[in-house]
Amino acid sequence: REMPQPVPDGTLTSLAREASHCTRCPLHCNATQTVFGAGPENAKIMIVGEQPGDHEDLAGKPFVGPAGQLFDRTLAEVGIERNSLYVTNAVKHFKYESRGKRRIHQRPNAGEVEQCRWWLNQEIALVRPKLIVAMGATAHYALTGSKEKVTELRGRPLPIDEGRTLFITVHPSYLLRIPDAQRKDMEMTKFKNDMLYVSKFE
Ligand code: URA
Repeated sequence: REMPQPVPDGTLTSLAREASHCTRCPLHCNATQTVFGAGPENAKIMIVGEQPGDHEDLAGKPFVGPAGQLFDRTLAEVGIERNSLYVTNAVKHFKYESRGKRRIHQRPNAGEVEQCRWWLNQEIALVRPKLIVAMGATAHYALTGSKEKVTELRGRPLPIDEGRTLFITVHPSYLLRIPDAQRKDMEMTKFKNDMLYVSKFE
């Protein structure tokens, strides 16, 4: 794997500026803008999602749409300040298919995730978080190269390099899609418990 090599002036601001004209993969062609990570450079916790959605693509900020609102509500319930987190995505451009006026989310493929991993590695090298939280399979794949099922790994901390911990949980969009109310409730509780674990690292 490519080793992280911080950009010359080594700040998140300059990294984000560089990423704003990224053409490493074709996704920049149809997206509105690069949605880079957001949060303090000294954050102890880094949250990694999949890719910006429709709302994020327009706003230029990660996790501001429905999944982000669920994420924010859960953070509030467990007492985590969103502003203390560095929140980013495995892929920095919105991938979608147009159906009439609607833009339907498409999962980024392995090649796109691998191209974008360069940025994720840079973010990790600069922020140096104690805990990295992978929300969903794409984030887990970007961080580890493993395609193991998230539902089998979630909720158990994994020691990784540089004394860091990797923690895997589900993606909030997954929770939003559960049709059965009772199952949804159960899954929400599990997600909240995962975030309670995360809160210990703040
Ligand atoms: N889903 C993600 O994975 N990331 C976002 O920023 C928004 C929705």
